[in-house]
Amino acid sequence: MSDTEYPFDSATFRTVLGHFPTGVTVVTAMGPDGPAGLAVGSFASVSLEPPLVMFCPGNQSTSWPAIKESGAFCANVLSDQQKDICNIFAGKSEDKFVGLSWATKATGSPVLDGAQAWIDCEIVEAIEAGDHWVVLGAVRSLEADSEKTPLLFYKGGYGQYQPLI
Ligand SMILES: Cc1cc2nc3c(=O)[nH]c(=O)nc-3n(C[C@H](O)[C@H](O)[C@H](O)COP(=O)(O)O)c2cc1C
Repeated sequence: MSDTEYPFDSATFRTVLGHFPTGVTVVTAMGPDGPAGLAVGSFASVSLEPPLVMFCPGNQSTSWPAIKESGAFCANVLSDQQKDICNIFAGKSEDKFVGLSWATKATGSPVLDGAQAWIDCEIVEAIEAGDHWVVLGAVRSLEADSEKTPLLFYKGGYGQYQPLI
């Protein structure tokens, strides 16, 4: 079977993988022309010792080159009050940060106000993987607000966390 022949189509791939629920992050960096960022569901924890995380930017991402050039990123874990922010960073606007409050920590990457948690990282490796990259980050600082609850993404829509009783 060649790389382009599969026993399923891309719509099926998307639908089936959409049954795996994720949180939503906005991955930010301080690029050469100012702050850059995109909405990311592929963020994950990788290693405890040393502390490593990962995310997968697509090769069509216009923010990824700026993030790569900065050598660092911050994964901002969105709260369920930040769906509008998610929509901004899932788009292609050149001024995604207009009207947003943010600060910087260890790496200089933007930490968004109101995020449920943030993980500030230096990029240690970027591996090409099909039409995406797998980016490994060494965690330099991190913090969580346990009072907040996360924004969830499932089957193409947003939701909120509901604990089982
Ligand atoms: C919930 C959600 C999760 C997403 N996850 C990813 C992801 O993991 N990797 C990616 O490249 N794009 C992901 N996207 C799509 C990007 O946010 C979108 O393509 C955006 O326009 C990219 O912006 P940029 O071109 O400025 O980088 C996701 C979008 C949403 C709404």
